Amino acid sequence: MHQKKFYVTTPIYYVTAKPHLGSLYSTLLADVAARWHRLSGEKIFFLTGTDEHGQKIAQAADKVGKKPQEFVDSFIDAYKDIWHKYDIAYTYFMRTTDQAHIKAVQEWIRALIKTGDIYKSDYSGFYCTPCETYVTKKDETVVVCESCGRETIEIAEESYFFRLSAYQDRLLAFYAEHPDFIVPKERSHEVVSFVQSGLRDLSISRTTVAWGIPFPDDEQHVVYVWADALNNYITALGYAQESKKEEFAYWWPADLQVMGKDIVRFHAVYWPAFLMASGLPLPKHLLVHGWLQVNKQKMSKSLGNAVDPQALLDAYGADAIRYYLIRFMAITQDAEFSTEDLEQRVSSDLANDLGNLLQRVVTLAQRRELYEVASPQNWGAHEIDLRDAFWTTLEKYSLDMDEGYSYRALGHLWGYIHQVNAYFHAAEPWKITDEARFKEVISASCHSLYAIGILLHPVMPHAMEKLLASLGVTVTFGEHNFLEELDDNPWNKTFMLHPLKEPLFKKYESKPEQVEEASEGGQAAFPEISIEDFAEVVLLVGTIEESEEVPGSDKLLKLQVNFGPYGMRQVLSGIKIYYSAAAVKGVQAVFVVNLKPRKMMGLESQGMVLTVTDAQDVLKLVTVAQVPPGTRLK
Ligand code: MSP
Repeated sequence: MHQKKFYVTTPIYYVTAKPHLGSLYSTLLADVAARWHRLSGEKIFFLTGTDEHGQKIAQAADKVGKKPQEFVDSFIDAYKDIWHKYDIAYTYFMRTTDQAHIKAVQEWIRALIKTGDIYKSDYSGFYCTPCETYVTKKDETVVVCESCGRETIEIAEESYFFRLSAYQDRLLAFYAEHPDFIVPKERSHEVVSFVQSGLRDLSISRTTVAWGIPFPDDEQHVVYVWADALNNYITALGYAQESKKEEFAYWWPADLQVMGKDIVRFHAVYWPAFLMASGLPLPKHLLVHGWLQVNKQKMSKSLGNAVDPQALLDAYGADAIRYYLIRFMAITQDAEFSTEDLEQRVSSDLANDLGNLLQRVVTLAQRRELYEVASPQNWGAHEIDLRDAFWTTLEKYSLDMDEGYSYRALGHLWGYIHQVNAYFHAAEPWKITDEARFKEVISASCHSLYAIGILLHPVMPHAMEKLLASLGVTVTFGEHNFLEELDDNPWNKTFMLHPLKEPLFKKYESKPEQVEEASEGGQAAFPEISIEDFAEVVLLVGTIEESEEVPGSDKLLKLQVNFGPYGMRQVLSGIKIYYSAAAVKGVQAVFVVNLKPRKMMGLESQGMVLTVTDAQDVLKLVTVAQVPPGTRLK
């Protein structure tokens, strides 16, 4: 069997401090892509590393009185350690101070001097040290960096230039022929218009900086840090090393290169031009993501608002953070990071929707002493519907994962998880006395959970290994194509159930009014309130007259509720997993009616329906019979 290869890279990080959550985000997107391709039996090369030369690092080292090499060395363990703790399964960690890289970059320069693509001249202009980038003066005002907005320094020095201008037309032709080179496509516009506006040759050496790769055969110069750094993507594979020729030819070009939007120009303009000049093929896709922000500002070391991945890990664990970053930090835009939001998402999506489902299936089976779950000879109609729904989900999930839209893929999968929950509640296996039917429901749920566990493995490797283990499945990745297996899967597996020792995911109770449960024989720690406090809450009986699904929401039903003398109100409620729209029509339930109106999915909700969760963890409406709508509960 021919095994496909997948070569994915992250940007290499400036080592002026330990990694922060923004650095983790780029790395995580690459890790999820690598693990996704590993699922279908592909051979993976996943490259990450550190960018260790340049003025910015030399200055940072100087500030703390260290030599640059000693300074950069001091951070490497922190990077490797945090990547390890977050289950980042990289193949190779590149450091640009590695001798092999230094030599290969020098070879690259020698080759391009020979072809005339690199030549010596003089540079005069402006430079942004934090971004390590040359800046063009546009008018007479102070020159600030286009990318970070900081003030630049003026430099005038002899320099070697890369003949970038010669590649303008070829670059434009390449973008036109490869419209999916930059993902998301919308990011291509700025690149194309930058190139169309005219490319000037790029200075690729500095004489006023000492910390860099010595320019070959001209010791006055060091290589400009971006010309050094971009080449890591090929030097890591053995570019310009005779003994690694075959290995290099096997892996290059990269299948996916991940980066933040701040460094697109380097990757989408300079890098392809460097490769064209070297006669090498171009990467297949660049995945460009937005920024993680805190209070609407890019999270960064220099702004002092960076979140420490280690502290976060201690509080929430790697799987939950991986899920949250991948699902809710949509790559297409900047996203606000907040731990409250993280807690809420983890509680609802992971603990409630997924963890609970697994727990209930396994516990229920165990209660009936069902440990070995074989599949029935024939499946019923609901089970076949559920299986078909999975196949539809698989198609959508794969398409989005293949294109790098992992956040969208997870959205599809959660739609399916809600369907499985709805199936389980509707089937009410706890009430089934017929053994064959009981086994059928458990088996269908296990098949669904198995498929979910495999698809989610790239995002939450540890938690999914636990989920699969409780179904009696151990996964090992090699040449086996799990996606093909899921696609062909006729649902004929046998599962060996092992109850979980602890819940798969933690639930965070963010609502202060949540009370602790009573300990055995003791009293619950209910916070006391006065009768006046209670009187402020208006509870009314309401009759649900109309009910419909909210388009685009997996959870919400839109209810039109009759409160008798108090009129009709619209209430949105997240009960769709437990009730169909038709099932609640005509039901008389209890509502809180003096909560501040809230908007959900763009619709206003003017109340909240009361619910309880029964012993089977099924959510139920609190209903009242034989009183007219509008009756107040006191
Ligand atoms: N050293 C260069 C890259 C050279 S690649 C040949 C560099 N390093 S960096 O450390 O400043 O940034 C590395 C990556 O981290 C970039 O993709 C950048 O976008 C990402 N992030 C840094 N802060 C970020 C956020 N607040 N949010 C998301 N990603 C961010 O640039």
